[in-house]
Amino acid sequence: QGQAMWGGRFTAKPAELMQAINVSIGFDRRLAAQDLAGSRAHAAMLRKQGVISSADEAAIQQGLADIEAEMAAGTFPFREEYEDIHMNVEARLRELIGPAAGRLHTARSRNDQVAVDFRLWVRDACRRVEGQLRGLQAALVAKAEAHAETLMPGFTHLQPAQPVTFGHHLMAYVEMFGRDASRFADAAKRMNECPLGAAALAGSPFPIDREATARALGFDRPTANSLDSVSARDFALEALADATICGTHLSRLAEEIVVWMTPQFGFIKLTDAFTTGSSIMPQKKNPDAAELVRAKVGRLLGSFTQLSVVMKGLPLAYSKDMQEDKVPTFEAFDALELSLAAMAGMVADLEPVAARMAQAAGSGFSTATDLADWLVRTLDLPFRDAHHVTGAAVKRAETLGCDLADLPLSELQALNQGITADVYDVLTPRASAGSRRSYGGTSPEQVRAQVARWKEMLK
Ligand code: ARG
Repeated sequence: QGQAMWGGRFTAKPAELMQAINVSIGFDRRLAAQDLAGSRAHAAMLRKQGVISSADEAAIQQGLADIEAEMAAGTFPFREEYEDIHMNVEARLRELIGPAAGRLHTARSRNDQVAVDFRLWVRDACRRVEGQLRGLQAALVAKAEAHAETLMPGFTHLQPAQPVTFGHHLMAYVEMFGRDASRFADAAKRMNECPLGAAALAGSPFPIDREATARALGFDRPTANSLDSVSARDFALEALADATICGTHLSRLAEEIVVWMTPQFGFIKLTDAFTTGSSIMPQKKNPDAAELVRAKVGRLLGSFTQLSVVMKGLPLAYSKDMQEDKVPTFEAFDALELSLAAMAGMVADLEPVAARMAQAAGSGFSTATDLADWLVRTLDLPFRDAHHVTGAAVKRAETLGCDLADLPLSELQALNQGITADVYDVLTPRASAGSRRSYGGTSPEQVRAQVARWKEMLK
């Protein structure tokens, strides 16, 4: 025991350093469930195809079930001398059932074994994340529905632009996370081909049934080229790219939460559940969770970068470089799943300070566009002229230290004689937001229409 699986060809044990750089059980033990599933499907297929006997298959299946129970109980011995998860399982199987264990690896290589394990893992991770994204969307939709009428300033360049509704702003993220979810679903679908049976690189001389193992493992079909099967990691790269894009969306929302929470903005409150205090400044309530979510995109892009660089320039087929695919992928999904959970929690937790937001929505001459539009609609001014008149009105209000809506009619008429008192109807932030009823616009009824559409889709 303790002999490497390839003992036949070797007389000396590996140098300690060889083992140190080669060993992967510390991280690829996370593929244990997938490895067992792959082995079960493979053994069943070998028996059905007459490659191994029923008795051997039964012993193998029993041994794999026992191993699964040991793993669940935490008693499975993960041993460094067996290098990786595949050889740890096989070594343990031999201890449990004897020589029949040696038949499991017929028509199989660790190259297709790790390819199928890792694909299963990434596919499951994509599906989990898609589910989490749907949950986050549902939290945003619920908040948006409650605040379809709550006013807030809309910004461009982080300068006051036009009043919007808080519900509308939140629904913007529902769209982004919806695209993220569909990207993960799409990636999971594209990667859903089974590499098992590619063996080392060239396929197998045994009469294996790749359709059967593909079906048993929930794949749509077997992969069509054995070299590609053991060489491809673009499925993981694609998932990491999707994770990175999703991370940028999370980061933007996190940044807005941070900004909205500063007393200078004072737009929202988070409860103690998602804030921390300071060890020295007693007044502090810091949005640490949002800040950490904002930062996690660094890990996600880092993981994508790592794996891209590992894969570029690798000749076909398998090279040991590819063992470096797992750590960045596991780390990225750990970070993403935690971020999504924290963000869903924060979204449910946050409450807007409606009065403060409404007041801010009306400041900064945010209804200037509405004045210009009124001049176009009511007085038939060309938009450029209306823009000029409105600019002069803003300048005048600035000089007088008041809002546009507080300018006396005489002041407005000094700029254009045709202006009547009706104009004040469009100068409030509520009128401004309420008037933007174009499809996808910020008016409460448009927001409610989008809320209804998403509620239906998220059912
Ligand atoms: N631990 C290896 C990995 O993660 C499994 C495949 C090893 N294959 C080989 N030919 N050495 O990539």
